[in-house]
Amino acid sequence: MKKVTLTVLAAIMVLAACNSAKKTTETAATKPKMDCGNPAPTYAGDIKGIIAANCIGCHGEGGKGGYNFGSLDDVKRAGKNGDLVGVVKWSAGFAKMPARTAQLDAQTIAKIECWVSGGMN
Ligand code: HEC
Repeated sequence: MKKVTLTVLAAIMVLAACNSAKKTTETAATKPKMDCGNPAPTYAGDIKGIIAANCIGCHGEGGKGGYNFGSLDDVKRAGKNGDLVGVVKWSAGFAKMPARTAQLDAQTIAKIECWVSGGMN
């Protein structure tokens, strides 16, 4: 009886080990090429603060360009349609944001890009 229990326990442990090994591989394979850090940037932890410091002044209620970035829905809308990443990267065809000041630093831009490509969580 004891032997059976031990065998079952050992089998469960092997299965659990295989399972976690598989997870690690999947994460590495699906990771974007850019180094998005671990954990990846989140709205609450990263993006909200970046926008509050650099964008809300002009993009609050009734904001410029039709965006109220006090609303997460509007931030996501700009993320989905490409505007958010386009303007902070100063990509051709986009307004350069934040307007009338220096471009955000590379690390901050990367965080925004990672957040958008990672599904905006
Ligand atoms: C000093 C004011 C100001 C700040 C700060 C500012 N914006 Fe803007 N933004 C504007 C104005 C004005 C427009 C609309 C006119 C234009 O296209 O230049 C605009 C337009 C936009 C648009 C629409 C783009 C388009 O091509 O129509 C987006 C997206 C945007 N801003 C994002 C941001 C983000 C993200 C930040 C912060 C990183 C930011 N803005 C900071 C003034 C500002």
